[in-house]
Amino acid sequence: MSMQARPVLSIRDLRTSFQHEGGMIKALDGVSLDVHASRTLGIVGESGCGKSVTARSVMRILDSSARILSGEVLLQSGTGPEPLDLLRLPPDGRLMRSIRGGRIALIFQEPMTSLSPLYTIGSQILEIITTHRKVGGKEAREMAIHYLREVGIPRPEERIDQYPFQLSGGLRQRTMIAMALAGDPEILIADEPTTALDVTTQAQILDLLRRIQQENKLALILITHDMGVVAEMSDDVAVMYLGRVVEQGPVDRIFHQPRHPYTRLLLRSIPDIRAVPKSRLPTIDGSVPHPYRRPSGCPFHPRCPDALPGICERSPPAEVEYAPQSRVSCYRAETTQ
Ligand SMILES: Nc1ncnc2c1ncn2[C@@H]1O[C@H](COP(=O)(O)OP(=O)(O)O)[C@@H](O)[C@H]1O
Ligand SMILES: [Mg+2]
Repeated sequence: MSMQARPVLSIRDLRTSFQHEGGMIKALDGVSLDVHASRTLGIVGESGCGKSVTARSVMRILDSSARILSGEVLLQSGTGPEPLDLLRLPPDGRLMRSIRGGRIALIFQEPMTSLSPLYTIGSQILEIITTHRKVGGKEAREMAIHYLREVGIPRPEERIDQYPFQLSGGLRQRTMIAMALAGDPEILIADEPTTALDVTTQAQILDLLRRIQQENKLALILITHDMGVVAEMSDDVAVMYLGRVVEQGPVDRIFHQPRHPYTRLLLRSIPDIRAVPKSRLPTIDGSVPHPYRRPSGCPFHPRCPDALPGICERSPPAEVEYAPQSRVSCYRAETTQ
């Protein structure tokens, strides 16, 4: 197991805010995460917790209203011993452009946001191949067909000349995965890659992601609001709430000995296959507050069944590493486990 190896990507104390008429919106309030080669990290949390902003901060593709106030995103260097801090690179500079789509690829929930409707899928894959690899035109086209076949697109020799609108949602998501692979990345970030798909297609895409993660020894960061998907796919888990990682660790520990009350509530929300379909997270009272109205202290305290009055609302709890690779931020974590 590569747990002791240096992480391929380390996020340290990342703080990202958005400028807004009413002031600053703190979307990320000190996110720290480690991502290891050949492993899948599941990032889980309700909508609005900062999962996508984390991915977009790493890729340096935030809106112009965003400000990265502090932190480090350390990418292990391919050559030297010193990691590269992506936050120190100009977002549109040559090095960041070669990393984006090259060493780190991102696929989104809705493929149509990153597939251009104006170009064939072939020309879009070819652009990635020729940007990130030193190959000629004919070879690049063969590689594009290879990747389309690799992700299970039938008759790739014909499909390559089609436009995105000619493909089903499932085939479009497969095309996105082929485009991600075409840059030969070490790290693949998949942001809710199956949320927009029907259940059968969802299962197929998750199978595909698992297979390419293993075959390419990728570090896969799988972002989802669904603990069931995390259970099925992840080696490591990071649970986010309101711009913070409240608990992280190996999947077995998170599922069998969760320490944070929010993690426990998310686990209770996994639909029981015998139960009638329920609304999302029925066991957690209330909803995630907007970061503009961020509670003081531990941001989860107003919804927390275990909150300690006089303590939890005062200051955010520090992150404690209570076992190797296992961290939690909760004043109750020691007393409740
Ligand atoms: N472009 C933006 N402008 C202002 N606020 C934003 C923007 N993007 C995201 N946010 C805010 O940042 C918070 C985290 O968003 P996001 O990372 O998209 O959540 P998640 O992916 O976990 O659902 C949300 O409260 C959202 O309102
Ligand atoms: Mg999101």
